[in-house]
Amino acid sequence: MYKRYLITSALPYANGPVHIGHLAGVYIPADIYARYLRLRGRDVVFIGGSDEHGVPITIKARHLGVSPQDVVDKYHNLIKDSFERFGITFDIYSRTTSRIHHETASEFFRKLYNDGKFIEQTSEQFYDEGAGQFLADRYIIGTCPKCGFEKAYGDQCESCGSTLSPNELINPKSAISGSIPVMRQTSHWYLPLDQYQDFLEDWILNNHKEWKTNVYGQCKSWLDQGLQPRAVSRDLAWGVPIPVEGAEGKVLYVWFDAPIGYISNTKELLPDTWEMYWKDAETKLVHFIGKDNIVFHCIVFPSMLKAHGDFILPDNVPANEFLNLENDKISTSGNWAIWLHEYLDELPGKEDVLRYVLCANAPETKDNDFTWKDFQTRNNSELVAVLGNFVNRALILTQKYFDGKVPEINDLTNYDKEMIAEIPVIRQEVENSIETFKFREALKKAMDLARLGNKYLADTEPWKTAKTDMNRVETILNIALQISANLSIIFDPFLPFSMKKLRRMLNIDAIEWDKLGTLSLLSGGHQLAVPELLFDKIEDDIIDAQINKLQVTKKSNISVVVHPESAPPKETVLYDDFEKMDIRIVTVINTERVPKTDKLLKLTVDTGIDTRTVVSGIAEFYKPEDITGKQVCLLVNLAPRKIKGIESQGMILMAKDASGKMCLMQPSEIINNGAEIG
Ligand code: MF3
Ligand code: ZN
Repeated sequence: MYKRYLITSALPYANGPVHIGHLAGVYIPADIYARYLRLRGRDVVFIGGSDEHGVPITIKARHLGVSPQDVVDKYHNLIKDSFERFGITFDIYSRTTSRIHHETASEFFRKLYNDGKFIEQTSEQFYDEGAGQFLADRYIIGTCPKCGFEKAYGDQCESCGSTLSPNELINPKSAISGSIPVMRQTSHWYLPLDQYQDFLEDWILNNHKEWKTNVYGQCKSWLDQGLQPRAVSRDLAWGVPIPVEGAEGKVLYVWFDAPIGYISNTKELLPDTWEMYWKDAETKLVHFIGKDNIVFHCIVFPSMLKAHGDFILPDNVPANEFLNLENDKISTSGNWAIWLHEYLDELPGKEDVLRYVLCANAPETKDNDFTWKDFQTRNNSELVAVLGNFVNRALILTQKYFDGKVPEINDLTNYDKEMIAEIPVIRQEVENSIETFKFREALKKAMDLARLGNKYLADTEPWKTAKTDMNRVETILNIALQISANLSIIFDPFLPFSMKKLRRMLNIDAIEWDKLGTLSLLSGGHQLAVPELLFDKIEDDIIDAQINKLQVTKKSNISVVVHPESAPPKETVLYDDFEKMDIRIVTVINTERVPKTDKLLKLTVDTGIDTRTVVSGIAEFYKPEDITGKQVCLLVNLAPRKIKGIESQGMILMAKDASGKMCLMQPSEIINNGAEIG
């Protein structure tokens, strides 16, 4: 057995928020694994952080007219905060722009450089003369030689997934200016991966046959093709400067510095003991990543570590495949995604539902699909109907018959004994599944314990027995409560928020994995707290709003926030009813406050038909000077009414959300006054 565990999760690029694909692929499995090992009392360090270098970040900054540092500051903070709210228990979430990382990455390069581990080579590379810059990686765009996709990047085709080099692109163009680049000489340092071929073949193909098939298979295919030297430097202004004289204007390739970030972040967390985690063979190092990261974590980074010589190698790299969304590839640029920070705002208190669904449906062996309907079904028919229902029945019956005090356990029947014997079996199965990185299977097995609980109550029917044999009811409910307490342990790595709530209801706090499988978690006479529902049913309107949002955001490419308490839809009306409304675009030509009121403004508007006076309750949201001169919408045929002595001839249309916020409706372009809305 290993003495300690070093768990890393891929450092997400700080050029956008985190979405459900990242969560299902990397962070949820890593967090379950870390939480599980901690519950078992193991020594665990779980490392996260932002990957803040690389070309996409500089392209984004250029696009927005801000500095790359501004971009990474914004997204690093957003990502860090949303992970925290989602209960991902990193021991540290740092960043690759930190000083300690720059130093660590620099030193790492210098050691390899001094030890003669690199080859230096001069070659011709694409250069944008107008921009005065070499075009590394994503700065060059062209047609993919493998699939014909016209917007393939210099490092990768996002359509067919092939790894590319800039020279392979057909009709290459600069991503900065769109111009046709020239060739210019530049020199770079290369890590000669071919020299590590034998080591890697032996290490992976012979000694890590236990790795997941998708991971092992990808490694084998890279190795079968024969490895080539890889450049570890770039001509860019953003990154870790190459710490060698005469290398001005050159930085480390992002894929050279980023994995060193795992080391830097461990150092930052444990300045005195970090070496124990990285240099002692009794540490088990596990990298959680997505499939697009396999080559870097199984081939490139291990070769770097081997070249350096001081570090241990990963014991496993449980990479997942990709998650699709409603049958389409998740796309950041196409805004086809569910963003974690928006989910947390729009579905508060439902962290565990997402954790559950993404684990139950994780793309462990093949790409998988997330749909909102499946999300709803899994919540309603698994979390609510199986787990929540069992716990709720056990707690409510105890309230009813024993005033919420745990009853004593009396004589056990054979059926009781058989049922109880199942618990340690389930525990063992969950352990085996987690330790072999089969988290879906582990979750399913854990759910079997809740199913067992439901079956036990259905078979023993304590509500009937209560009429004749309270002694028996005591035993039944004691067992049901012990199962509930066992559930609060076995589900803790998966559903940490709900299990904390369950333990609050059971009135217990500290838990250990080692107590799992026993009936000694609650003693007779122990007072329980008042029960609440563990999970709530999710109704159609919540799901429909999310599906609708996806469609809207995809079309407009802007994120909208769905307010969880939008007003319910009104009754259907006929077109004829609608057509009776005469709604026009009008220009506000004068605005005054209505004396002695806080909310009312008196507007004079040009309707294109006439000039008239309207009183409107918008003073809370707009000052008179903010409105004059604007075009707004007016219901012109509303029967006139007197408000504070002023005759109001129509109604200004406003939008109002559930928080009470209101705003005017304005045309998207200037249009003649009197234009009809319909
Ligand atoms: N930023 C990379 C990605 O999102 C992952 C980097 S993992 C690290 O694909 F090891 F390099 F940090
Ligand atoms: Zn392609």
